Amino acid sequence: MIANMEFGNVLITGGAGFVGSQLAKRIGPLASHVYVVDDLSAGSPNAVISSDKITFIKDSYYREEVLEDVLPRVQWIFHLACRSLSLSVTDSLEDFRTNLYGAFALLEKARARCPLLQRIVYTSTASVYGNADVRPTPEAFYQITTPYSASKFSAEHYFDVYARMHGMPTTIVRLSNVYGPGQVASNPYCGVVAKFFECLEKGDPFPVIGDGLQTRDFTYVDDALDAILLAAVSPNSVGKLYNIGTGIETTILRLAATIGSVAGRPDYPIVCAPKRSIDHIQGRSVDSNRIRQELNWFPTRTLHQGLAETHSWLKQRSSGEERTP
Ligand SMILES: NC(=O)c1ccc[n+]([C@@H]2O[C@H](COP(=O)([O-])OP(=O)(O)OC[C@H]3O[C@@H](n4cnc5c(N)ncnc54)[C@H](O)[C@@H]3O)[C@@H](O)[C@H]2O)c1
Repeated sequence: MIANMEFGNVLITGGAGFVGSQLAKRIGPLASHVYVVDDLSAGSPNAVISSDKITFIKDSYYREEVLEDVLPRVQWIFHLACRSLSLSVTDSLEDFRTNLYGAFALLEKARARCPLLQRIVYTSTASVYGNADVRPTPEAFYQITTPYSASKFSAEHYFDVYARMHGMPTTIVRLSNVYGPGQVASNPYCGVVAKFFECLEKGDPFPVIGDGLQTRDFTYVDDALDAILLAAVSPNSVGKLYNIGTGIETTILRLAATIGSVAGRPDYPIVCAPKRSIDHIQGRSVDSNRIRQELNWFPTRTLHQGLAETHSWLKQRSSGEERTP
């Protein structure tokens, strides 16, 4: 189904970041034109493939002039730009501006300046589940424990309000620990998978916070992109919210062992790392039954397969080759 999708002109905010750059690669062949807006506060210009179908605008996505210029040209918007969880603790104002005020400005301007809008998809986060004791956690649950989860959760509400009040075709997806090709440790806010692979390359032990028994629900990037694209085109997903994840809890110790194993280094050493203020989540897995049932989306990679593909990509990358989408 995804291969047959057709998009007109697309805007991807945060398209020089991990998920956004992979989305741009995936959607490029299906779209008339892709506008990537990224201020490079965390992303990299090298992540944006060069193609006459892609225009890269290095700027803040919610700057009025940028919105005025790009929005009238596009029919599809994927809003991925964000400031990270860890930054939200050290600079809560910047988190508020980018993750909440920016989302509001985008919605408000899209309402006025995007007459042909087909869909606006917002990538929210499983961080809104905090330390949920109900796992896998369904969409109805929330426990807001950080400025990041507060700003992302509040932005979700604006997407809902703009759908109800103004009939805007919004869809929200909550991603959970996405990993895979395209995730680079040079992004200071990259996830644990990219950090562990970087350690492997440098010969450093894997830094494990606490006892390593905390769990996360790791989602392979291509599976997450399938879900985002399905949610974007399905007529049934307008005004809906979907969890995207495997529902499987993996401890950080198990993740470390699996990365060691796919790299042919079983029993790779680990070292104890100090806890940061954001390291209070003991367990996470999301219930993705809604998107499975309504949109027939299923994750296709086991963690082992996804990590093996990530490892191959990293090897190709260090030998100068890149994967094609
Ligand atoms: N990767 C994950 O595991 C994960 C999990 C849950 C939710 N998400 C959500 O998915 C989206 C993408 O995440 P990611 O992992 O690719 O993050 P990322 O940090 O790799 O990408 C975010 C991008 O946004 C850009 N950006 C920040 N402020 C901006 C601004 N004002 N204007 C323009 N660009 C700006 C950054 O430079 C960066 O390139 C985010 O909305 C995030 O909340 C990701």
